[in-house]
Amino acid sequence: MPEPLGIRISGSGRALPSRVLNNQHFVDRLDTTDEWIRERTGILERRVVSPGESTATLATEAARRALENAKMTPADLDMIIVATITPECLFPSTACFVQQALGGPPVPAFDLAAACSGFIYGFVTASHLLREGSPYKNILLIGAETMSRITDYEDRSTCILFGDGAAAVILSSTPDVSRHALLHHRIEAEGSGLSMLAVPAGGSKLPASKMTIDERLHYVKMQGREVYKLAVKRNLELIDSTLAEAGVKPDDIALVIPHQSNLRIIESARQRLGLPPDRVFTNIQKYGNTSAASIPLGIDECRETGRIKDGDLILLVAFGAGLTWGSALLRI
Ligand code: UT7
Repeated sequence: MPEPLGIRISGSGRALPSRVLNNQHFVDRLDTTDEWIRERTGILERRVVSPGESTATLATEAARRALENAKMTPADLDMIIVATITPECLFPSTACFVQQALGGPPVPAFDLAAACSGFIYGFVTASHLLREGSPYKNILLIGAETMSRITDYEDRSTCILFGDGAAAVILSSTPDVSRHALLHHRIEAEGSGLSMLAVPAGGSKLPASKMTIDERLHYVKMQGREVYKLAVKRNLELIDSTLAEAGVKPDDIALVIPHQSNLRIIESARQRLGLPPDRVFTNIQKYGNTSAASIPLGIDECRETGRIKDGDLILLVAFGAGLTWGSALLRI
């Protein structure tokens, strides 16, 4: 088992667009029903950006709230990482837009793309960069997405799923691993499944052209059923191996904060753990699948409401495009 890494969450904040799309919005436009969406996904509504809002504006708002919550200023940050698959533009990175908006001294700023597992990938990366002896003490980690920008609103099997949002945490190094630590983690990828969930065009392989636009190749394409089956399988394997390797029993966990992709996927994980519903966080009902933003949105909401407290054992778990997956067991 790896050494625990001494990190704590010094502050957190979130930003959600005010525009709400409820299920009726889709019922009015597509061949679908409110019952189908609720029963197959658990989603009741999701937030989407309006003109003038973007991944960087949401990320910056979430970052400002996290700084305020941590009682810090941009000058206290040693690094900015944005986990996103819907960046502000191809380059520069969204993290540089956030750095510009926040101000403060020059610091390393970069994006990290691991789709729905992006926040856990970022959490693990930041935790290692905060190891004892490192020059970095406080890292701003943001999960930010505007999935509505890459969603095909004519495809009923995907458009009902996604929403926009951002949430930020400030991770700080601490010498006292008995109180606050990343106790165990797994992050993995299997590229053989990359075509199961992807935006085919807009990169170097298939740059934008009339053909890519006509064929709607700038939008999310997903083999939903196959991804669903793999998500359930990988989530269960991840949970089992993370707990076994860390020597932790499900009962020791105060709260599981899973990526919010489908309520049925979350429910299968809850059943495997044998935990009551109040020990597994869900907010998919109101935000849909916000990709890399979903776990930090959960963390911030739970910190705000007191659902997680200092010293609690928390399990984060996610599965997404790539295919990627990850888990993080924290003493928060
Ligand atoms: O976050 C990253 C990872 N993402 C995920 O884990 C998402 C994984 N996938 C899913 O959550 C589910 O596969 C979906 C919610 C996308 C789909 O649910 P499903 O139970 O897997 O449905 P399905 O794709 O097997 O489709 C069943 C039927 C099909 O009709 P036929 O072929 O049986 O006649 C679909 O055409 O449901 C139909 N369908 C719909 N019907 C009404 C698909 N979308 C809709 C819809 N409304 N919006």
